[in-house]
Amino acid sequence: MREDNQSSTFNFILLGVTGQQKQEDFFFLLFLFIYPITLIGNLLIILAIHSDIHLHNPMYFLLANLSFVDIFFSSVTIPKMLANHLLGTKAISFGGCLTQMYFMIALGNTDSYILAAMAYDRAVAITRPLHYTTIMSPRTCVLLVTASWVVGNANALPHTLLTASLSFCGNQEVANFYCDITPLLKLSCSDIHFNVKMMYLGVGIFSVPLLCIIISYVRVFSTVLRVPSTKGVLKAFSTCGSHLTVVSLYYGTVMGMYFRPLTSYSLKDAVITVMYMAVTPVLNPFIYSLRNRDMKAALGKLFSRRIFSQPM
Ligand SMILES: *[C@@H]1O[C@H](CO)[C@@H](O)[C@H](O)[C@H]1NC(C)=O
Repeated sequence: MREDNQSSTFNFILLGVTGQQKQEDFFFLLFLFIYPITLIGNLLIILAIHSDIHLHNPMYFLLANLSFVDIFFSSVTIPKMLANHLLGTKAISFGGCLTQMYFMIALGNTDSYILAAMAYDRAVAITRPLHYTTIMSPRTCVLLVTASWVVGNANALPHTLLTASLSFCGNQEVANFYCDITPLLKLSCSDIHFNVKMMYLGVGIFSVPLLCIIISYVRVFSTVLRVPSTKGVLKAFSTCGSHLTVVSLYYGTVMGMYFRPLTSYSLKDAVITVMYMAVTPVLNPFIYSLRNRDMKAALGKLFSRRIFSQPM
């Protein structure tokens, strides 16, 4: 039994993505490959945006914020998974587990709200171009970003505290490669009804931005289609299309994971979490910027300046 004075020595065991050695080796290599790309890709976006005065506008500031969150979001779970695999251990301390859970929820929610802010920004730019600079003022921009961080942390705190107060009766085996809510709730021997209700509420709060994103894109499409210009329509469809792909993968997997009865959850579902834990943070920089001419120009400048400023 876990008494409160024992919690500091209580360890959880992270079973991994599938629990099979061969597949764990595969996911280790995949994460080892994806993680540096996530860090470098997102860092380059932030550097490129901050170093190019042409990109000092709400759209790019929001994008830089998304990259900033993604760097930390992927760092909550992946380095621990890599380190454990290398050290041949599956252990994570009770405190480490709750820390992972807190930051995973907080940053995941912040990410979600920034995505909504980005969609709103595009909707304003396209549907109300004349009022764009007054609506998306620097003040609004800071407000949207701050609100995203506040909601993210406010959503993470109750879940973490509720999980911290559960008893685990010696059950240690977390059916995932990080401390996620569902496998932890399944491990507990306490009454978890309230926790589960709060989890659904939390996923609801996480999913509100999806509604804003859908409304924003519907408004963008209806405006673009009203102006009969093939080029404009194609451009809107190609940029919004790639955003929508990532957005639906993100929300689709998260909602598929948590909006369902707890009893239906098992270790094989851990593979789904790889999608939003590792794949979305690495895809974001590519989807949102590499197809964008201004971003490419800024990245080019970033590199050429570095090269030409080398002392001879
Ligand atoms: C996030 O957005 C704010 C508001 O526009 C901006 O001032 C800040 O520099 C951005 N943060 C990053 C990391 O780019």
